[in-house]
Amino acid sequence: MEPFTRRYAPQKLSDIIGQDKAVRALRQFIVNYGSQKKKAALLYGPSGCGKTSIAYALARESGLEILEVNASDFRNKEQVQKNIGAAVGQQSLFSKGKLILVDEVDGLSGTKDRGGLQALLKLMQNSTFPILLTLTNPWDPKFASLRTKSLMVAFDELGPEQIFLILSRAVKGEKLEVGESVLKQLARQCGGDARAAITDLQTLVSGKKTIDAHDLEGLGMREKQQNMIQALLKIFKATDPKIAITALDDVEEDLDKSLLWIDENLPSEYEKPEELVRAYDKLSRADMFSRRIRRWQHWRFMIYINALLTAGVAVSKDAKYKKVVMYKPTGRILKMWWAKQKNMKKKAIAFKLAGKLHTSQREMVKNMPYLQVIYKKDKDMANSITREFQLEKEEVQWLRK
Ligand SMILES: Nc1ncnc2c1ncn2[C@@H]1O[C@H](COP(=O)(O)OP(=O)(O)OP(=O)(O)O)[C@@H](O)[C@H]1O
Ligand SMILES: [Mg+2]
Repeated sequence: MEPFTRRYAPQKLSDIIGQDKAVRALRQFIVNYGSQKKKAALLYGPSGCGKTSIAYALARESGLEILEVNASDFRNKEQVQKNIGAAVGQQSLFSKGKLILVDEVDGLSGTKDRGGLQALLKLMQNSTFPILLTLTNPWDPKFASLRTKSLMVAFDELGPEQIFLILSRAVKGEKLEVGESVLKQLARQCGGDARAAITDLQTLVSGKKTIDAHDLEGLGMREKQQNMIQALLKIFKATDPKIAITALDDVEEDLDKSLLWIDENLPSEYEKPEELVRAYDKLSRADMFSRRIRRWQHWRFMIYINALLTAGVAVSKDAKYKKVVMYKPTGRILKMWWAKQKNMKKKAIAFKLAGKLHTSQREMVKNMPYLQVIYKKDKDMANSITREFQLEKEEVQWLRK
């Protein structure tokens, strides 16, 4: 069966719900291509808000042929040259114009792909066709040069009302009977991700024409939590490390999130102080390895993290507790995620200024509040700082708020 996400994918720009600002900016970008410095537009925003869809609709409306390039095509320079070099260089007399889409640039990560990012920048330099890049988080410092060389186009997270409209189309198209309140609930619980909402809808109606409030329980979030709770049971109750070590195999969450789950529930499971000391020691070591991965890209450390979190925590107890504990998700996950997002922008600006001021990024982060005061109070000075350090619009906006 064809996925609803494909069947109800926006065809025209007018099918796109919300994102008006982004659509306007991109239209302009295509029309003015050639007479402007920026060779690429960087479409960024949360998952399932329409970035890829808009790229396709835009190509269709502008009569351009879309050439989609995957992040994996950028593994090395030779590959890029072979796969796309020829296609982007020249416009043949009779063919349609092209629009190049490099979808999900986030995939260009890790040391091996350093060359990949370089290759992408080179491609941008040489391209005679407009390039669209999509990315969920552009504030990672490694994308700094990509940001300066691209037109930044922000996408907003879709609100429940907008998701509701998107869902209503599928409901109408499939001739389903879904009450308004149920559909609104569905729209609310997808976290602003239209793809997730449509997929949920399709899952719920499979084999029938209607859904009610009852069907909504047990969806998505809950399923993930259920998997995690199973995993916790295995880790906390097993004493054999061989059994415990497979606990996280079926869990979709990444190891950092798993760590937080264990961290949250550990004290309600283990009772003896010495057990807690041992178990938290394992967690802290896992956390250390996770930092090293982030810093040095040593992916091999994932194996150690997994072992510490599962077998390590399992053998930290003397014996299994017979009691039943209701494990609960940690509220810190979401908070940390937000804090990280906010920090990313700050760090990106600090990184840029630090290089020019011959100081460290860390030092610069500390001085950021002063800079923010300047941006609020002294327009002239702010303007000259913006000019001197060539800050982007986004960065200035951040400093102002
Ligand atoms: N703004 C929107 N208007 C209408 N439909 C949308 C919109 N955003 C998303 N959708 C629906 O969700 C599906 C997924 O959207 P899309 O692939 O464009 O998301 P994305 O922003 O590229 O996400 P990702 O970052 O995960 O790739 C689309 O096929 C479409 O059905
Ligand atoms: Mg996409």
